[in-house]
Amino acid sequence: VSVEADMTVRIGVIGAGIMGADHVNTLDRYVSGATVSMIADVDTGRAQEAAAGVRDVRVTEDAFALIDDPSVDAVVIASHDTTHADLTIAAIRAGKPVMCEKPLALTVDECLRVVHAEAAAGAPLVSVGFMRRFDPAYAELKSALKAGACGVPLLLHCVSRGVHAGPGASSESSVIGSSIHEFDVVPWLLDAPITEVSWHAPRSAPEVTGLQDPQLILLRTADGVLTTVEVFLNARYGYDIRCEIVGDRGTVALTNPTRVASATDLRRSTGYPADWRPRFADAYRLELQAWIDAILAGEGSPLPTAQDGLTAVAVAEAVISSMNHAGAVTPVHRPTT
Ligand SMILES: NC(=O)c1ccc[n+]([C@@H]2O[C@H](COP(=O)([O-])OP(=O)(O)OC[C@H]3O[C@@H](n4cnc5c(N)ncnc54)[C@H](O)[C@@H]3O)[C@@H](O)[C@H]2O)c1
Repeated sequence: VSVEADMTVRIGVIGAGIMGADHVNTLDRYVSGATVSMIADVDTGRAQEAAAGVRDVRVTEDAFALIDDPSVDAVVIASHDTTHADLTIAAIRAGKPVMCEKPLALTVDECLRVVHAEAAAGAPLVSVGFMRRFDPAYAELKSALKAGACGVPLLLHCVSRGVHAGPGASSESSVIGSSIHEFDVVPWLLDAPITEVSWHAPRSAPEVTGLQDPQLILLRTADGVLTTVEVFLNARYGYDIRCEIVGDRGTVALTNPTRVASATDLRRSTGYPADWRPRFADAYRLELQAWIDAILAGEGSPLPTAQDGLTAVAVAEAVISSMNHAGAVTPVHRPTT
């Protein structure tokens, strides 16, 4: 990878929606050693909005032109999930490091195309945006578990709730778009792959149409631990991420990371964020900084790999298969690459 003489990695960001605009802001303001040199979005108005206030940045509606542009050393992909595989492969072919938002692709077959393209290039260029691994609270949870804080882990309880589902959400997109974070973070916490899954659901909330929400997914890992995952996109009250590990000597759990409490009308209260951006702001910043640091040092990326992206999608496919077979216990096929 060639970077400018002043040791700055020039980043091209593809997709300037909620996540892409957030990554532009984080890279521009909070990550050292990086500048945003180009932003691509098929909606150029969005690209221009994200570019406002960023110095020396150009916008385009053509993501492939961005990837090939000489002013771009490395690529962040934050466009729709359907575009991830082709854009990641284009970045690989251009020989540029690429940080693709989750999911790496929508199917195992598409992920395999990326893994094979990367192997053909002979360089580990792909990173996947499973940022929870960089969240200080999750990192501390993993350290506590490793240090034996709760003894031998037996059960994990994961909860992921949002205010409202995004437009066009479906039962499947809840799995491949939201639960997928758990399919990466659970094996990472436990150091054990997910081997078997099953999908369950109660009745949906009355206002929810067109998808099953909430959903409850059971994951078995190779170490014999059982994990419950509740994903509730329309929980309304706030964005709320929980994880508790139950061991033979106690429990360790994430705490609600609030900084302010108010007291009024005989009540003490703390708030919830409206979406993931405030909750995981540190995680996105630390993830991008770690990625940039590795590029500058000429070292391999410490972010999740294309193989990790593929593994999580293989779990998602097993969960969707269970959903389509009345919650049947379904083995996870980890494709050989
Ligand atoms: N890691 C996380 O916590 C996290 C959180 C939210 C979203 N995401 C991921 O980030 C991605 C974007 O999500 P979002 O919520 O910002 O969606 P969004 O709909 O707000 O933004 C997507 C943007 O991509 C643009 N786009 C679509 N196709 C394009 C193409 N071919 N070339 C250039 N631009 C294109 C759209 O015009 C839109 O502006 C998704 O893959 C999503 O799964 C990750």
